[in-house]
Amino acid sequence: MCGIIGYTGSRQVRDILIDGLLKLEYRGYDSAGIAIHNGSMRVIKSPGKVSKLVDLLPRSLDSTTGIAHTRWATHGEPSEINAHPHTSGSGRLAMVHNGIIENAPEIEAYLKEKGYSFISETDTEVLLNLIDYEYGLCGGDILKAMLRSFKKIDGSYALAILEKDRPGRITLCRKDSPLVMGMDDTGYFVASDIYAVSDYTGRFVFPDNDDIIIADNNLGVKAYDGNGKKKELKISHYNINKKSPDHSGYNHYMQKEIFEQPQIISELANSVLSINGQTKHGRSLAEILPGIRRITILGCGTSWHSGLIGKYLIEKHVRIPVNVEYASEFRYRDPVIETGDLVISISQSGETADTIAANKLALEAGAITLGILNVKNSTLDRDTHFQIYLEAGDEIGVASTKAYTAQIVQLSRLTSLLAGMKGNGSAISNISQSLRDISQSMQSVLANAEKISELASKYGFSNNFLFLGRGLNFPTALEGALKLKEISYIHAEGYPGAEMKHGPIALIDFNFPTLVVLTDQESRAKMMSNIKEIKARNGRVIAIINEDDESAEQLVDDVIKVPSVPDIVSPLISVVPLQLFAYYVALLRGCNVDQPRNLAKSVTVE
Ligand code: F6R
Repeated sequence: MCGIIGYTGSRQVRDILIDGLLKLEYRGYDSAGIAIHNGSMRVIKSPGKVSKLVDLLPRSLDSTTGIAHTRWATHGEPSEINAHPHTSGSGRLAMVHNGIIENAPEIEAYLKEKGYSFISETDTEVLLNLIDYEYGLCGGDILKAMLRSFKKIDGSYALAILEKDRPGRITLCRKDSPLVMGMDDTGYFVASDIYAVSDYTGRFVFPDNDDIIIADNNLGVKAYDGNGKKKELKISHYNINKKSPDHSGYNHYMQKEIFEQPQIISELANSVLSINGQTKHGRSLAEILPGIRRITILGCGTSWHSGLIGKYLIEKHVRIPVNVEYASEFRYRDPVIETGDLVISISQSGETADTIAANKLALEAGAITLGILNVKNSTLDRDTHFQIYLEAGDEIGVASTKAYTAQIVQLSRLTSLLAGMKGNGSAISNISQSLRDISQSMQSVLANAEKISELASKYGFSNNFLFLGRGLNFPTALEGALKLKEISYIHAEGYPGAEMKHGPIALIDFNFPTLVVLTDQESRAKMMSNIKEIKARNGRVIAIINEDDESAEQLVDDVIKVPSVPDIVSPLISVVPLQLFAYYVALLRGCNVDQPRNLAKSVTVE
């Protein structure tokens, strides 16, 4: 994970670095630091959020060259020593790094034999000292030093380096971790994502894996491939006019994002499904879809949950087999993907390392890839043949809410498109009409937030929760449990209702409440039996029920009533009370709702 920002040119660097760090904080927020070069190199770092670092910085740094970093710890606890930038033992180099060096212990042992010692617990310091060692051997030639070092390491990296003896120069490179270089008439920017620098420029270079770029304030910019061969800079133009989001009117981004859902869904449901992109032979997705025999859906976390809903919808209404895979498992288990398979990669950020790698594997196997993405211009946006955007706006809260429901809407609309191609007209009208009506129903769930907050107060000090759902609402149970875990640090498990008997029922007692999703008609009767089994063991049950479901109300301890909607869109309604429940429990327990501990919005390391 981690965010990298840097600049060299004629502008003062302080505000560029701070502004970039704040924009990149979604990638990690356990410590931050900057290194500047204004004749000599200076490093300032701090554990904690970027704001803590800003408090430490002088008002003026009087420097036009610098690099900075916001960290999500992989090696070593969040501390000032482990924070980036790191400085090499000789003091010649300073570096920021995103990624993981897998053979760091072996390299560290090798360098210790050469007389190096280490002050941090990080793999970054090991990589930096390896470059430093080679730099010494190559007479201070950073290109040669990096080429020689990269031959010795395994892992992923995006990094930017300052050299003590080369003021005004930043050297950057990447392998399997995102990095972009921006340029304008004043100089060169480097960043983990385009939005960290898009206020300054519309000209960008996306380095390929292993590329090394040397950006020098005085000498200009040069790019080299992984063999040290000079290469042309491929400049892409994007004019991005992005307003910084705020949560005015709400206490937290997560709360705002939950309440934005009806509007987002209404806009999607009332527009035409737009599919971007083409294959390298110029074919559109509409041309390809009729020939699709098999679909694989890839994702992580919440995006994997929406993928499960996509599977249920597509298999039921289109009758094409769909596999849903954790991207992290798929990429390492030698999966069967054949030319012509459709692979759908779902990701809010478009930057999740495992999803990017799994998608790449599918591409190499000849699959057609479709990204369902929120962030445009992200790595997955560039790495997929086709894209369906969520159009949900920036999602800032670390716990995904509006992206999840937008993913379900877009998967439903894709189902409808596929169903049309298979001649299943009733599915199309059912999905379209239900989606158009859902936003109103969602509003009334949100209007009931007070009641959900009361239930959060009643149950919010339990240490464990079970979430149950079946069919289309099994993923809802998974998602409800994940939200509670993430932001309130309570242990919660999501299970398909019937599976409870195969183990989890042993956990049930008065202090282990269960949240049951009882809103879809298809599984209601079976779920009622599951509730009875819990009640027979003195378990407490909170049920999400349709507003007219009196018999369920009599059976359980507490209910959250939602409007009755067709089963096909029931996951969209049922998840909202669970998002609110997690939100209010987190508040009750004094947790940081938008930036929960140990997490980052974008998981850019595997
Ligand atoms: C949960 C959450 C994560 C993400 C996961 C994938 O609230 O946000 O589980 O869903 O890290 O992220 P994306 O969708 O950006 O690939």
